Amino acid sequence: MINIRIEKTATPKTLPSQDNPLNFGTIFTDHMFIMNYDPQNGWNDARVVPYEKICLEPSSMVFHYGQEMFEGLKAYKTGDERILLFRPEKNAQRANNTNKRLCIPEIPVEDFVEAVKTLVKTDEKWVPTKEGTSLYIRPFIIATDPFLGVRPSDTYMFIIILSPVGAYYPEGLNPVRIWIEDEYVRAVKGGIGETKTGGNYVASMKSQVKAHDAGYSQVLWLDGVHRKYIEEVGAMNIFFKINGEVVTPALSGSILPGVTRDTVLELCKAWGVPASEKRISIDEIYEAYENGTLEEVFGTGTAAVISPVGELKWGDKTLIVNDGKIGDFSRKFYDTVTGIQLGNIKDEFGWTV
Ligand code: COI
Repeated sequence: MINIRIEKTATPKTLPSQDNPLNFGTIFTDHMFIMNYDPQNGWNDARVVPYEKICLEPSSMVFHYGQEMFEGLKAYKTGDERILLFRPEKNAQRANNTNKRLCIPEIPVEDFVEAVKTLVKTDEKWVPTKEGTSLYIRPFIIATDPFLGVRPSDTYMFIIILSPVGAYYPEGLNPVRIWIEDEYVRAVKGGIGETKTGGNYVASMKSQVKAHDAGYSQVLWLDGVHRKYIEEVGAMNIFFKINGEVVTPALSGSILPGVTRDTVLELCKAWGVPASEKRISIDEIYEAYENGTLEEVFGTGTAAVISPVGELKWGDKTLIVNDGKIGDFSRKFYDTVTGIQLGNIKDEFGWTV
């Protein structure tokens, strides 16, 4: 187990006012966690220190070849003032899957979780309590060798920062409009699509801008080979309810294995709702829409939680889902997931820590 030194700030910041809505990812707390890696010492010098700028050489490899990974999870304050994390070991495991793919040294799952817990405890007064808010936790690793050749770095920094947040989308739980991208692709099998790394997100930005300019919140990606099978939305996985069955694209190697995605599938199992992970083509979705069996569409993600989709734009076709309203299933998943996260619903799954 890592030994974490704690150095508290002498100049704590003012907490955000409870009167103003919190945006996503704009405010940062008093402290951050840092740990270094070098080949002689492995991961070492774990510490919680005041949140401040970090100093890096301009030649640091992360700036040139993008060797970095990140994660996202949240902390919630319960009615009886406990602080809960939701399935943090899942994020730690996924972080290591990303690390393996990107030649970054792994971090023991228990050390990752301990680092998150220690930092959140240090900044516990920053966990917001208003409905729809939480403390977003952003762990990330960057390659720090000052070197311009292409190879894995020998040195790294693992950092965790915290941000009190509200809804990811300004729409909140109101349905978002999604643009189906048929020009660019996000990832291909054998690439890095299933890892959580900046490269996947920068690849999405051109389409994101295009979608935004056309009045859409995000892009739904089709597979990179056939340009036909549904993959994921930029910041969330995607689910469809077709004729009573919940379906989501199977993890194909180019889709991010979301923790909320897995949670929804587990809930379906527990509730006896027919659910499957399979290859789904955009033509099948359009066909279901045309014959009136496309009942609901929603996205899942840590930041986005459960986000109903009210409209899909595919070329010249516009699919209005569930009359653009929040579907009953989307609401039920939202209420259950957030209820467990906030300690308002009994956690029979052992998901909260
Ligand atoms: C998350 O849901 O935590 C994510 O990392 C998505 C992010 C791009 C905001």
